[in-house]
Amino acid sequence: MTVSGPFSIVFANAKGGVGKTTSAVHVAGAFAQSGVETLLVDLDPQASATRHVGLDPAALDTTLTDVLIDPSRGIAPAVRATRYPGLSILPAHESLGTLESELASMPDRESLLSEAWSGELPYRAAIFDVPPALSLYTVNALKLADAVVIPVQTHPFALASVPRTMDLVDRVRRHLNPRLAVLGYLATLYDRRTRVARECLANMMEEWGELLIEPPIPTNVALAEAARDGRLLFEVDPESAGAAAYYQAAAEIVARWRTARGDREEPGMDRRGRSAKPAAGARA
Ligand SMILES: Nc1ncnc2c1ncn2[C@@H]1O[C@H](COP(=O)(O)OP(=O)(O)OP(=O)(O)O)[C@@H](O)[C@H]1O
Ligand SMILES: [Mg+2]
Repeated sequence: MTVSGPFSIVFANAKGGVGKTTSAVHVAGAFAQSGVETLLVDLDPQASATRHVGLDPAALDTTLTDVLIDPSRGIAPAVRATRYPGLSILPAHESLGTLESELASMPDRESLLSEAWSGELPYRAAIFDVPPALSLYTVNALKLADAVVIPVQTHPFALASVPRTMDLVDRVRRHLNPRLAVLGYLATLYDRRTRVARECLANMMEEWGELLIEPPIPTNVALAEAARDGRLLFEVDPESAGAAAYYQAAAEIVARWRTARGDREEPGMDRRGRSAKPAAGARA
């Protein structure tokens, strides 16, 4: 099977605050650090992924809003480099919120990102961060992507959002994008000291089996602090439990990506999550 363009993965869940953005940003960062040119696409009006990599959405003159208003110009005018080598971003802006209602009556509203995604894109991976509601932007991302990862907080209430998310994935597969593969579920915010989290993880294993991506991402306050500071945890505390878990989860996602893509070689991450190349630091 040959696939043109970057392999693209959406991190989606209908529930808010389950670690979608934290996961999308750190998996994208781990890919970039292992030498895979990666584009992070922020489709959320909250612009959390944009801020997480150190950009102020209000200070940007071109963002995803402009791309969706005129997809014929492509994505390139809005893409920025980040402080991390190999990691670029198509940033979000809060104006995506009002744009969504304006787009609601347009016949091609679900294809705007696909239309803009044309030409030779110089990335091998694209990671899409989407809003919690199953919005028009989530549909745009799922229509275009090769695969979806579903981050699920290890909390009993969080499990209830999964069927709603999977319903949307199934509908997109049936009507818009039959290629869309489910790479797996990523357990997040796992506090193994609590019985409720341990029970929840056990239920996830039983329910999803092989589809559960290992390891679970632990609750690690350094992740919240890194988000606040507009940095990746790999930069501020690469030895932390959160950074180690995201390196490993990213390697597991790469292994699943290879299988989904039918591609035996690249990218070069081993299953322990360490890059074959020396770790790249942030640009000053
Ligand atoms: N493993 C973790 N340990 C500690 N804090 C975390 C962890 N994962 C996420 N957080 C924090 O929890 C909050 C919600 O995480 P995040 O923004 O990634 O979720 P989300 O699903 O993208 O939320 P939204 O639905 O609002 O987009 C953030 O403040 C984030 O920094
Ligand atoms: Mg988010």
